[in-house]
Amino acid sequence: MKAERFLAACRREPTDCTPIWLMRQAGRYMPEYRALRERYGILEIIKTPELAVEVTLQPIRAFDLDAAIIFADILPPLEAMGLELTFTKGDGPVIHNPVRSMADVRALRVPDPEEELSFTLEAIHLARKELEGRVPLIGFSGAPFTLASYAIEGGSSRHYERTKGIMHAAPAAWHHLMEKLADLVGRYLSAQARAGAQAVQLFDSWVGALSPADYREYVLPHSRRAIEMARQEGVPVIHFSTGTAGMLELIKEAGGDVIGVDWRVDLDAAWRRLGEDVAIQGNLDPVALLAPWPELKRQATRLLKQAAGRPGHIFNLGHGVLPTTPVDNVRALVDFVHEHSRRDGSGADKLICGDSA
Ligand code: CP3
Repeated sequence: MKAERFLAACRREPTDCTPIWLMRQAGRYMPEYRALRERYGILEIIKTPELAVEVTLQPIRAFDLDAAIIFADILPPLEAMGLELTFTKGDGPVIHNPVRSMADVRALRVPDPEEELSFTLEAIHLARKELEGRVPLIGFSGAPFTLASYAIEGGSSRHYERTKGIMHAAPAAWHHLMEKLADLVGRYLSAQARAGAQAVQLFDSWVGALSPADYREYVLPHSRRAIEMARQEGVPVIHFSTGTAGMLELIKEAGGDVIGVDWRVDLDAAWRRLGEDVAIQGNLDPVALLAPWPELKRQATRLLKQAAGRPGHIFNLGHGVLPTTPVDNVRALVDFVHEHSRRDGSGADKLICGDSA
């Protein structure tokens, strides 16, 4: 049952209990990850399939999670398009030759993922072997908008002036860039599915910076195209974004079998707006994982109550696990969600969804 839980929920089928995995479940909050990072850079880990698989498995060994996510990052595809990427301590990712003009957009290549992102495809293939069907493996990509924002700003941004600047002042260059990105993202997600990913997630982490009208005009058609391409491989697509409580309906319109929502919207309200024909992933505040256990438990309980046992709920955070998260809280949350969401109606004292299932 454990091996099936997550994929069944993606299809909105009933499950024995609510599946849970966490965005950024591999990373700096884990001592095993920090130990590996003392010896290797993040891009080195990502580009060495054996190391990427090792990190992918770290949280699977440590916790009773219902899915693994391949260890990678959203930015290497930009490198393959011709942008120079480094990760610097403190500053996060930096693109050294950002896109600022139509000429820059034209110069970007649309790489073949099988050729230039083969390290992640190989890692997926290897990870599937290592997992031996214990839990399904998720692949992922940045969404066209979030990738465009890094390509144009050259790093993280607060107000996205340059990104919106190109969007508003040079719409032809914007759409050309987004077409190239959508094409790459669609092909990359499809290639991941063919390599063995059993579901794929599109991360549109920063699209909440846009007004609904700008989203509809400048982003939605491109996200939809990438999602449609990925769905042709027959795997469920999770469409995740943050800060989009004002336009959840548009996120759904762009597509996805599962919609990932953040904590700025109540789960039950999100469900009423999205309807019963999509599954929902979310939506605990990642900072709640830093709280004392009674408070964390209270928040998890509230969330499960809002989900009300509807088929198609995948428990997750509303964004990634923070580096300051206590490992014990992650373990306690994962076990609590399983125990507290059991569907046999026998009361909270009997555990049927833990390790044994
Ligand atoms: O979820 C997982 O366990 C898979 C791993 C994963 C990473 N990045 C590894 C990583 C995933 C799913 C991502 C996605 C990603 N990367 C997103 C979308 C999700 C989100 O959080 O919004 C974004 C925006 C990025 C870009 C990125 N990568 C930034 C801004 C940074 C630096 C900020 C930071 O957290 O340090 C990274 C680096 C990065 N990618 C780290 C990890 C574990 C930490 C860096 C390190 O080990 O030094």
